Amino acid sequence: MKSSFAKICAAAALIAGLVLSQVPAHANDAQSNTKGGNIKAGRVVFLHQCAGCHSNLAGVDRFGPTLQGVYGRKAGTAPHHLYSHAMAASGIVWNDHTLNGFLTNPHVDLPGTIMPYRGLASAAARANVIAYLRSISPDHAN
Ligand code: HEC
Repeated sequence: MKSSFAKICAAAALIAGLVLSQVPAHANDAQSNTKGGNIKAGRVVFLHQCAGCHSNLAGVDRFGPTLQGVYGRKAGTAPHHLYSHAMAASGIVWNDHTLNGFLTNPHVDLPGTIMPYRGLASAAARANVIAYLRSISPDHAN
């Protein structure tokens, strides 16, 4: 009994260790150039940080516009979405550089935006989520 419990504990510790070892691996990935971000890790960021307000499906808006096809799209132009004037009039085209700036701190980058999100402090997380956004933008997916 005791030994099987010990085995379970060892297995649990091993799994926890594996899970934890994944986190610093991505965190150490910091890069100022967002190209080369990790799509799989970016999908996880998207699901945790963005999907509450944004879908990744064409034509499906939530509180925010769909982010399917956002890479290369002119800001504020997804059909059927009500944008702030600031966003609609920004003239931004979403690419590595503009997404990186916006996602660092939306309200500093684009005063007047109604995106209620404080920003992603981690450069690695931004690079990864931008890689994911590019991957769901058919014209720009690698
Ligand atoms: C709490 C809701 C919410 C969260 C969380 C959120 N957004 Fe948004 N997002 C919005 C809204 C609302 C807008 C429209 C803003 C405007 O018009 O000013 C928007 C706009 C955008 C745009 C511009 C889209 C376009 O069509 O021009 C991008 C890009 C974007 N969000 C990316 C993200 C990413 C990436 C995340 C996660 C890291 C995220 N957002 C998290 C609500 C959210």
